[in-house]
Amino acid sequence: MDAETAHNVGIALMERGIAPAESRRDDPALRVERWGLTFPNPIGLAAGFDKDARAFPALRAMGFGSVEIGSVTPRPQPGNAKPRVFRLPNERAVVNRYGFNSEGHDAAAARLASNVPQVHAAVDRDLTGYGPLGVNLGKNKTTPEDDAVEDYVEGVRALGRRADYLVVNVSSPNTPGLRNLQSKRHLTRLLTRVLRARDALPDGHRPPVLLKIAPDLTEDDVKQIAAAALSTRVDGVVVSNTTVARPDDVFDGEYAHLRDEAGGLSGAPLFESSTEVLRELYARTRGKVTLVGCGGVSDGEDAYEKIRAGASLVQLYTAFAYEGPAIVPRLKEELKACLERDGYDFIEEAVGADHLTGKAKAADEERRKHARSGW
Ligand SMILES: Cc1cc2nc3c(=O)[nH]c(=O)nc-3n(C[C@H](O)[C@H](O)[C@H](O)COP(=O)(O)O)c2cc1C
Repeated sequence: MDAETAHNVGIALMERGIAPAESRRDDPALRVERWGLTFPNPIGLAAGFDKDARAFPALRAMGFGSVEIGSVTPRPQPGNAKPRVFRLPNERAVVNRYGFNSEGHDAAAARLASNVPQVHAAVDRDLTGYGPLGVNLGKNKTTPEDDAVEDYVEGVRALGRRADYLVVNVSSPNTPGLRNLQSKRHLTRLLTRVLRARDALPDGHRPPVLLKIAPDLTEDDVKQIAAAALSTRVDGVVVSNTTVARPDDVFDGEYAHLRDEAGGLSGAPLFESSTEVLRELYARTRGKVTLVGCGGVSDGEDAYEKIRAGASLVQLYTAFAYEGPAIVPRLKEELKACLERDGYDFIEEAVGADHLTGKAKAADEERRKHARSGW
């Protein structure tokens, strides 16, 4: 089965409730509290798997700490011509150029509304143990770059009341010109407008707004994004989307024929670069902006490394696509083992631990040493 068909079959099954559900409660050590929301664990499903909000109830029941639907564009659009997803199984990687195939805001809003009892985690958390639901916003291909802001503002208005958190995606490599919105000037304008729209939502519902960035950034780009994030007071940044890089070690042998396929590379080969951007952004924002680490996470050590580099939450997509639902409990167990090994009682204590200096660093090293020696 080709990759897109396999994906669609998976979604269709989940839509009918044919999927394993997690019945065990998460270990309290894994709980993350952010923006007034409770994430029962930090492992979230990244955007792009459930673009049209068809399968999110089943996905939430699998034990993810959060599920992000989308990207959703204002008007329906078909995305790029097929084939548009390519597997690199021996690299645990994927190249995709879906190009925001989306049924549009109205369809997503209707599906989210019909699942209301499951949507608002804050309300039914005690009942279900489910984590928050994120809504990732995109722009239509035909919307000119100068009007892009309107597409995101529309997204806030159409879907904000259904979301526990919102993500402004300016980092897909598959919509021409989209990533130009990552410049400080564009970002400041975009985020200011989006946050204003969020603050005008009815009934006092104020979902946090996150920005999702690319991994293909220079140090100066990251500096500008940090400045824009701090000045606009955006609530968080997801680091990162897929990469346009084509590493030689991935595309030399068996997959040389895929090197020239346009699209974003995800999975294991993205881990290093996405974690470096995360680390850099944490250093420049110093805990004032919540960071979500995404890119190449496939085991508990990967998730833990993102957390130590500065992520409060982690997301994955490609490893889940390869391994299926069993990856979720495995990741949580492995992450718990990392905490125990290093002597942390709670995951939140490890956030940004790699950035400690001076006495705090010495104390952290000492505690880890004692924990490892079994004290
Ligand atoms: C097939 C596919 C489709 C994706 N679609 C979206 C999308 O619509 N919006 C978005 O923000 N990210 C999208 N992504 C990016 C993922 O959310 C994630 O940022 C990226 O794949 C890195 O994580 P991973 O290495 O765990 O897959 C997509 C990724 C893949 C593989």
